[in-house]
Amino acid sequence: MSLFTIDKNACTACGNCVAECPIMIIAMPDKETGPIPVKNADALCIDCGHCVTVCPHDALDHRCGSPEELPLVDKNASLDPAMAEQFLRQRRSIRTYKEKPVELDLLQEVIGVARYAPSGHNTQPVKWLIIHDTQKVRELTGLVVDWMKDTLEKNPDMARMMHFDMLTKGWDFGIDAVCRSAPHLVIAYGQKQNPMARDASTIALSYFELAAYSFGLGSCWAGYFSTAANVWEPLKNELNLPEGHVAMGTMMVGYPKYRYRRLPERNTPDVTVL
Ligand SMILES: Cc1cc2nc3c(=O)[nH]c(=O)nc-3n(C[C@H](O)[C@H](O)[C@H](O)COP(=O)(O)O)c2cc1C
Repeated sequence: MSLFTIDKNACTACGNCVAECPIMIIAMPDKETGPIPVKNADALCIDCGHCVTVCPHDALDHRCGSPEELPLVDKNASLDPAMAEQFLRQRRSIRTYKEKPVELDLLQEVIGVARYAPSGHNTQPVKWLIIHDTQKVRELTGLVVDWMKDTLEKNPDMARMMHFDMLTKGWDFGIDAVCRSAPHLVIAYGQKQNPMARDASTIALSYFELAAYSFGLGSCWAGYFSTAANVWEPLKNELNLPEGHVAMGTMMVGYPKYRYRRLPERNTPDVTVL
């Protein structure tokens, strides 16, 4: 199909699609002509769907979805500022999990929500690796501990600064302070050379964390795991990401063992206004 078609009977030439197109590839020479694609629009379009979803009259049918295919915004489902603050403040890093595994389908469903995170030029460069097998999570965490032990030998000052001494002793003692005995890990990865992949992965994992909370799951960034996943060959080999791809971030996930009763406090924002 062409990039977009206009239902001339429905279009009022209001210009919303022209104004909202981030790439400015919709022109409207005059009201009679209505919205038309500029030269090369097919190649330039980033398929964000702003034009079709902002049209008040369902007059624009875009290759990324027709008005009938794209659900209407449910105005009753919007959060007011107080609800948004409650929701965002309620999300906590969960470090104690029930032994009960999370169904793979549910993790996929959470990722299905996280995919609506923004990405530069709507390139959606984030790929996901789910370590669902809890035994595998333990094995991989063991490799992170090997990396910590190696770093303690080769770069002891830095390793101690990062508490690797305590973390490795804990592990040998049966305490997993690296991945907190989480039943599963979710890794966002992308192409090493793609300058947009890292930010997109961080944002997508943040969406994942918030969405997981809404599904009754708990999660926590696994910073040590993520670092090791980029530098420790045995772990890289086990993850076996496609050629040219690197892990951008890792999230522990499982059913939280405890519920938080109170909201946290944070520092007053350090804001400068120019
Ligand atoms: C990039 C990043 C890496 C993190 N890595 C770890 C980690 O390896 N282990 C851990 O227990 N928490 C980790 N955290 C969680 C932070 O400690 C936590 O977000 C912070 O203490 C605030 O607590 P809250 O998330 O419950 O509000 C990480 C957080 C971020 C953003």
